Amino acid sequence: MQSEISVQKGNSQLIQTIQSEIRRKGCLTFARFMELALYDPRDGYYMTPHSQVTPAMETGRERIGWSGDFYTAPDVHPLLAKAIFKQIQEVDDLLHHPSELTILEMGGGKGLLARDILRECEMVAPEVLSRLSYLLVECSPAMRASQEHHLGEFLQKGLSIQWASSLSELETGQVTGVIFSNEFVDALPVHRVTVKDGSLKEVFVDCEGEGFGERMGPLSSDEISTYLKDGHVNLPEGYTTEIHLEALRWIGEVDRVLDKGIVLTIDYGHTVQDYYGSSRKNGTLLCYYRHTVSDQPYAHVGEQDITAHVNFSGLALAGERAGLSVAGFTNLMSFLLGLGAEEMLAGLEQESKELQSAIHLLRPNGMGETFKVLIQHKGIKAPSLMGLRYRPFFEGALLGGGL
Ligand SMILES: C[S@@+](CC[C@H](N)C(=O)[O-])C[C@H]1O[C@@H](n2cnc3c(N)ncnc32)[C@H](O)[C@@H]1O
Repeated sequence: MQSEISVQKGNSQLIQTIQSEIRRKGCLTFARFMELALYDPRDGYYMTPHSQVTPAMETGRERIGWSGDFYTAPDVHPLLAKAIFKQIQEVDDLLHHPSELTILEMGGGKGLLARDILRECEMVAPEVLSRLSYLLVECSPAMRASQEHHLGEFLQKGLSIQWASSLSELETGQVTGVIFSNEFVDALPVHRVTVKDGSLKEVFVDCEGEGFGERMGPLSSDEISTYLKDGHVNLPEGYTTEIHLEALRWIGEVDRVLDKGIVLTIDYGHTVQDYYGSSRKNGTLLCYYRHTVSDQPYAHVGEQDITAHVNFSGLALAGERAGLSVAGFTNLMSFLLGLGAEEMLAGLEQESKELQSAIHLLRPNGMGETFKVLIQHKGIKAPSLMGLRYRPFFEGALLGGGL
């Protein structure tokens, strides 16, 4: 069956690359389309040069930030960096101050969070810097260039800062410390499925004129039905949603690389019951182009971000199976308050712009409730962490019910 067509502008070279793959191999899964749109090595949205380091005329438009397509917490205020560093300090205590403490950041974007975490470390616990190894796992050379730029002050001081383009480059058990990410998992490719005439079908992407259209077909992999079975998810007729197989593979790799410590995942998303609930019958796929949100993945191909909300129950279950135990699940507001946001912001003028920016991260109708925080642990006994002091979810909401 063919759906309505969206023929829209985009990066014409990338459109040609995707169309020629379709002509060679047949329709693509949506996950493969999303992978090419975001991460094609030459023309993918995150991969094309767009760093602030060189003048805008010589490079593409900014991606993340006020002059880009969307903004993230570190664009708003360093409060999240301060809180993450406090959480890292607590884990450092639980690990008895190892001779090498690693902070591994996945998909660090422009490098603002890394810069602000290191600034906080330098200010409140400079003794930690000499034991610290900061490792950024970043697949995009353009993003890496921006990270190098923003971390210049620490690179000059000779701090141990390293990069890898994929977790697969790292050794098993290489990390003692914290593996964290902010808005990384939502950028991983997803499969899409729909229920039609009582049976589950996968959404495939086909060529359609100068752009792309959709076809429904049998599932490309048994992993999709296993994923839904594991979550005890029964989708009703007409329901369309995303399946996060890549996120499950990623958490397995995280487990391989972590020896002892925690995994801290911050992103917008839900527990499985909320994710596949009746209010999301069209799924959670969203695209960002110049701060305009749409559900049109075939528009602005290679020039817009494509994201899907995170199924945190799926991550938690896959983590448990791999060897990562759940320490807790909360939202961004509770995480920040638990780590002392109030004290961190004390002293700021009530009406100041800075306080208003920081409050955006806390407010329920800002980022405070939409963003969730999952903490998993390994090699340390059920830690009771400051970031998990307040939990707005019933015990078992994450792994209970279906999972
Ligand atoms: C939405 S941005 C994250 C923004 C950033 N964490 C922040 O707080 O501003 C997603 C980032 O993940 C990177 N990325 C996506 N998939 C990746 C992968 N498989 N391995 C490494 N980096 C990846 C992208 O290049 C980009 O830097």
